[in-house]
Amino acid sequence: MILNRKDILGLKDIDKTEIEAILNTADLMKYILRQGNKKTPHLQGKSVVTLFYENSTRTRLSFELAGKYMSASAANISASASSVAKGESLIDTGRTIDAMGADVVIIRHPISGAPHLLARHIKASVINAGDGMNEHPTQALLDLFTIKEKKGGFAGLKVAIIGDIYHSRVARSNIWGMLKLGCEVNICGPNTLMPPSLDKTGVNIYSNVEDAIRGADVVMGLRIQRERQKSGLLPSIDEYARYFGINDKNIKLAKKDVLILHPGPVNRGVEMTSSIVDEDRSAINEQVTNGVAVRMALLYMLTRRSVPDENIV
Ligand code: CP
Repeated sequence: MILNRKDILGLKDIDKTEIEAILNTADLMKYILRQGNKKTPHLQGKSVVTLFYENSTRTRLSFELAGKYMSASAANISASASSVAKGESLIDTGRTIDAMGADVVIIRHPISGAPHLLARHIKASVINAGDGMNEHPTQALLDLFTIKEKKGGFAGLKVAIIGDIYHSRVARSNIWGMLKLGCEVNICGPNTLMPPSLDKTGVNIYSNVEDAIRGADVVMGLRIQRERQKSGLLPSIDEYARYFGINDKNIKLAKKDVLILHPGPVNRGVEMTSSIVDEDRSAINEQVTNGVAVRMALLYMLTRRSVPDENIV
């Protein structure tokens, strides 16, 4: 399973067969992890660098572990502790990393399109770990992997995505991926947090959370991104929780075996109650576990793109 591209920048520009190939490879990676052997030779001699201009726990750590589990040399750069703080540009920072021979650079940046700019200027593969309000493709891939694992496939599944759609790169990547794979996608949030352009994508737009959740196979809550909010978009967090929070009452409108997802970090009691986060149908922790397998698959596929296929397991 070879991915015939240099970079992973978003799911808008990836076709269905590539997404399926990534999910199938992640399946093999998860199988390897389940064997208890957290050291494979797949990336021996390769180096992986994470370059983060924004905070992260899950994405950064899972990429670092994924690289280390497959024997890559893995290094981290935080913008605040690097020469970026002295004024070095993104392109010059990327060229510096390139000059040291990195094979893959994983970047998170507050500006939409920053990974695309970097990818045009360096030889290393670039993976977008979240760019502004644009895309977070690896999060969506691990969400899709979790849905496939729990539901067996995608065709005809009704997915409700609830929350701060406007600021959410996770929502955008998931919408592209889910529509390509045949899901019906309902999105719901306050009118002030609903981007007008999404109605052209084929999603169903709701302003009432009960209507969005009714009959859903999957319900995904999104974090209220206070760091990206201008004032006045929400009357108050309490009011948001009352009208758009996922709780024990409105989740009853979904299918009995509904799968509950959240990319994390969760504001408990805002996007969803603690009882929803921690209930049996919630796969929030499994999403994190699956993030390692999906990121192993991406590193493997990008670094093997110019060599013949082989048996992974
Ligand atoms: N879901 C996600 O991107 O989490 P982090 O910000 O912790 O990486």
